[in-house]
Amino acid sequence: IFARSVRFIVGAVSSKQLPSTEVKEVAFVGRSNVGKSSLVNMFLGRTKAAYVSKKPGKTRQFNVFDVNSASVDSRRASSVVEESSPWSPSGRFRLVDVPGSGYAKVSESYRDEWKVFLREYLGTRDNLEAVCHLVDSRVGLQKTDLELFELIGESGFAGDVIIVLTKVDKKSARAAEVLAAVRQAAPAARVVSTSSKEGIGRAALWRALKGVVVP
Ligand code: GTP
Ligand code: MG
Repeated sequence: IFARSVRFIVGAVSSKQLPSTEVKEVAFVGRSNVGKSSLVNMFLGRTKAAYVSKKPGKTRQFNVFDVNSASVDSRRASSVVEESSPWSPSGRFRLVDVPGSGYAKVSESYRDEWKVFLREYLGTRDNLEAVCHLVDSRVGLQKTDLELFELIGESGFAGDVIIVLTKVDKKSARAAEVLAAVRQAAPAARVVSTSSKEGIGRAALWRALKGVVVP
C-alpha cells in the first residue's frame, strides 16, 4: 500500500491559507520531535515529502499534501516494498503535517498563536475526518500529550481520533509499557503502532483510515 501521487499544496500559518474543503482530510498532530514528518513520508511511501529534522520544532506550518490527485508520480521511494494487500488506495484525500506542540524554544506568542490556530482548525474544518495523535513509544505520555488530548476534546472536533505510537523499533524496550498506558488513558481510541525507521505499521495505518478519509 502506498500513495499513487503526492503533491505539496501549501504551508499554511492561518486558516485563510488552507485549501478548499471538497476533499477529505487527515491531520497528523503530536509533540515536537515525535516523528510526524517521518511518519508522513513512511505512510505515503516517499522519502522527502515532509522535512524531517533531529532538532525539534522543524515543522512550523500546517503543511498540506494532496494525495492521489494525479494518476502517476514517479518520485516514489525505491525503498518502499509493496506489502501484500488486496487493496490499493486510489481515491484522493489530503494529509496535513501539523507543527509539533510543546516545543520549549519557540516564543510564547508563537505557541499561543499556534494553539489558537490548531483549536480553530480542529473545530471548524468541515472536511477533517480524522486526527492521528502521535505518541513517542520510547518516551510515553507527556504533559504536552495530555494537553493535546484536552485541546482536541475542547475544540469540538467530532471525527475519528487515532493514536499512533511512533518509533516502535525492534529495539524499543518501552513500547509495550507505553501502549498499555495509552490504552488506559484513552480506552476507546484506536491505537496503531508504527516505526518509520523500520516501516512498521504502514498498512495498519492505511487500513485505519480507509473509509474514514481514504476513499
Ligand atoms: P517537528 O516537525 O519538530 O514537530 O518534529 P516531527 O514530529 O515532525 O519529527 P521528525 O519526523 O522530524 O523526526 C524527529 C526525529 O525522530 C528525527 O531525528 C527522526 O529521524 C527521528 N525518528 C522519526 N521516526 C523514527 C522512528 O520510527 N524510529 C526512530 N528510531 N527514530 C525516528
Ligand atoms: Mg515535522
